Amino acid sequence: MKLNRIAVAAALTVTLGANAHAAGQLVVGFAQVGSESGWRAAETKTAKIRATQNNIDLKISDAQQKQENEIKAARSFIAQGVDGIFIAPVVATGWDGVLREAKEANIPVFLLDRQIETSDPSLYTAAVTSDTILEGHMIGDYLAGLTHDKCRIVELQGTVGSSPAINRKKGFEEAIAAHPDMKIVRSQSGDFTRSGGKQVMESFIKAENNGHDICAVFAHNDDMGIGAIQAIKEAGLKPGKDILVVSIDGVPDMFKAMADGDANGTVELSPDMAGPAMKALIALKTDKTQPAKWIKTPSTLFTPATAQAEYDRRKSMY
Ligand code: AHR
Repeated sequence: MKLNRIAVAAALTVTLGANAHAAGQLVVGFAQVGSESGWRAAETKTAKIRATQNNIDLKISDAQQKQENEIKAARSFIAQGVDGIFIAPVVATGWDGVLREAKEANIPVFLLDRQIETSDPSLYTAAVTSDTILEGHMIGDYLAGLTHDKCRIVELQGTVGSSPAINRKKGFEEAIAAHPDMKIVRSQSGDFTRSGGKQVMESFIKAENNGHDICAVFAHNDDMGIGAIQAIKEAGLKPGKDILVVSIDGVPDMFKAMADGDANGTVELSPDMAGPAMKALIALKTDKTQPAKWIKTPSTLFTPATAQAEYDRRKSMY
């Protein structure tokens, strides 16, 4: 009985894909990380808009931040014979097997917003990401200017093993290495979530003289930064003043926090990763144009000076 249901569901999925193909649409499967952050939700929303604009039948699977779920979704997309697969890889390693299966099936794979480590880069077509090392550098240089090169920093890392967590840490450390009085005194993962950021920040505050020995928090994304702001307030301190808050993403909540004086800077990460990937896929399919291996999205630093205007401009976009 159960087997029958599975068979019917599989047949239905193949038929749906076939209908889209018959209508001349490209079918794309998107193995998405999940909904851990405001930025991630914006990326998913933008992908749907871009799919409509490009007449693409986009099938999105939510991996709930588990690589095994993304691999399962990619295998199911391969079985359905999609025209392209987008993967936002939760972690950087462990992709070669499923990518080889996609390559054997002649399905181009685009990595969105995170890079992977592979011994064979020909296994994927292109990656659409920002320069995540540069993001860490930019926020580190900015913090050095704000603190006159002297600061005891706590760091909220993103998901362990993910490329933005690895690279933002690297870039930030490289930037502050030029300033001997700037030091990361504590560093732990908050898994790119608001609740994770709050929880870890609470433990940092307890361990650092009720927060009085912390000069700044560097959060690998805005959601953890917002969680840290809540923890700082609950400890009776003023975020943005007693403890500076810098992070990466550029979501509306962080612009609001900056406008309210609770945060000090963010580097914007474009939520439009699917748009460039769809453009490249269409060019590949229509006239075999090979995309650049790395389609780089811009990184821009924003400060409290323009936060209110940026918030007003963005809140309806998210
Ligand atoms: O890979 C991009 C990162 O993933 C974003 O900075 C973060 O918000 C998300 O979870």
